[in-house]
Amino acid sequence: MSAETESPAQPYDQGAWWRDAVVYQVYPRSFADANVDGEGDLPGVLSRLGHLADLGVDAIWLSPFYPSPLADGGYDVADYCDVDPRYGTLADFDALVAAAAAKNIKVIVDIVPNHCSAEHPWFRAALAAGPGSPERDRFVFRDEPNNWQSVFGGPAWTRVPDGQWYLHLFDSGQPDWNWRHPDVVAMFERVLRFWLDRGVAGFRIDVANMLFKQDGLPDVVPGSQGGPLTPGHAPVPYEHQPELLDLYRSWRKILDSYPGARGTVAEMWFGHPDQARPYLSGDGLAQLFGFGLMPAPWSAEEFRTVIDRSHRLARETGGSIPWVLGNHDVPRMVTRFGVDQDLVRAPTPEVLLGRMDVDVELGTRRARAAALLLLALPGGAYIYQGDELGLPEHLTIPDEARQDPMFERTLRTFIGRDGCRVPLPWSGAASPYAFGGGDTWLPQPEDWAALTVASQRDDPGSTLNLYRAALAIRRDHPALGDGDLTWLDTPPGVLAFARDPGFTLMVNFGAEPVPLAWHHDVLLASGPLEGDLLPPDTGVWLS
Ligand code: GLC
Repeated sequence: MSAETESPAQPYDQGAWWRDAVVYQVYPRSFADANVDGEGDLPGVLSRLGHLADLGVDAIWLSPFYPSPLADGGYDVADYCDVDPRYGTLADFDALVAAAAAKNIKVIVDIVPNHCSAEHPWFRAALAAGPGSPERDRFVFRDEPNNWQSVFGGPAWTRVPDGQWYLHLFDSGQPDWNWRHPDVVAMFERVLRFWLDRGVAGFRIDVANMLFKQDGLPDVVPGSQGGPLTPGHAPVPYEHQPELLDLYRSWRKILDSYPGARGTVAEMWFGHPDQARPYLSGDGLAQLFGFGLMPAPWSAEEFRTVIDRSHRLARETGGSIPWVLGNHDVPRMVTRFGVDQDLVRAPTPEVLLGRMDVDVELGTRRARAAALLLLALPGGAYIYQGDELGLPEHLTIPDEARQDPMFERTLRTFIGRDGCRVPLPWSGAASPYAFGGGDTWLPQPEDWAALTVASQRDDPGSTLNLYRAALAIRRDHPALGDGDLTWLDTPPGVLAFARDPGFTLMVNFGAEPVPLAWHHDVLLASGPLEGDLLPPDTGVWLS
């Protein structure tokens, strides 16, 4: 589209690859470790591309691999246009993109625009230059803090030796940018072009709702709510500011100026669909993660509510809302579904510390059924590394080994997100399970031998082979991917929908077997069927 053409009434991405893509999230530090130093790296990802090609994913999203002091696992970026030496080099990145392309796998990278690292040269310059300097103006420095709290716990302000305070909505090692400063806007345009020039198919935008802060930095009013307001709520002064829409339109123009469809997917938790609507409509971002299933307990009714809400929003706006069941920020689904589901609805202090009973077998059965649901829903889907192996959350990492800043910032009342970031098990009977080096950066559990890629590869009943089969069917079946669904009448506790032509998904969330209906053939089942009955905690694809 040329600059003269006005924005299309029709969203631009109809038919774009991401509307029905299956994207696999690689957390590079924990995927595969080629230089055997205990941390994953880009050559490690390259060496294991065969696993991703066999799985059948369309794209990978790489979480940050940029130079970083790792105050927040790399979401504290010291240089947006380079590779941290612990993960390799730019040449390794280029080699990975090329090798992935040869296997028809696209590469998406993570862009972290809300904040950088305290080690970023511009932040160091700001500290050195002192109060009132143009260097400080690229960040948010004040003589007095307001009442804002960090998302990770504790105050969102840290004092520097000359007495000023700087804003960090996350860790103190992650100073927030001042998005009203033209240097910041221009710098991120350069960053987008840098990675687009290297062949990335798009970007995942970190905390995409927070970049701009309301003028004057007013205090947060208790009970505030981001985005369009309902009576009785004040806005959150650092969320959904109107300038964001213009910024993302300008990014979209940059993406559109490159050949091939280049997309973005925004990390944006939204409470109410109206908060998300403006970004999805017209010439905005067009794609936001559909996170609603992650906090949902194992309940047909609650799943259906989330699915309806997201699907309706996608249909109404023409945008795309890919489904997500796991990522590097939330406990793994085997564990979520393996606990008393009231604890998912209202986590107790014990749950925050990981001290609850987990029925891993039950959680695994449910997670397998959920995978069939995920991959049958209309639109794109994201798979978090290790979910295809059915890994549970690692709940017994010793305190001294924990790395997530949330653990200390919440004064150790929340164990943090390390348990879903443990290095992957590839083969072998004991840690490091062929991940790479001997001492992995986070310890691996001792009982993962049966969960390795190698031990699941030849087991037809394994979770890995369930994902492979589902992705293979999805690739060829005309009903799957983007499109619509029709709910079918079911007994309580059962979800079933049809997709045209000739496809039915059915998941039994209840406690009793239910009759299979509406089918000629079973395409795939997440567990054994009992004749014509669908057992509890089981999902099935029918045709
Ligand atoms: C996003 C990332 C999370 C990170 C935070 C701050 O939520 O997914 O891992 O800690 O942003 O960058």
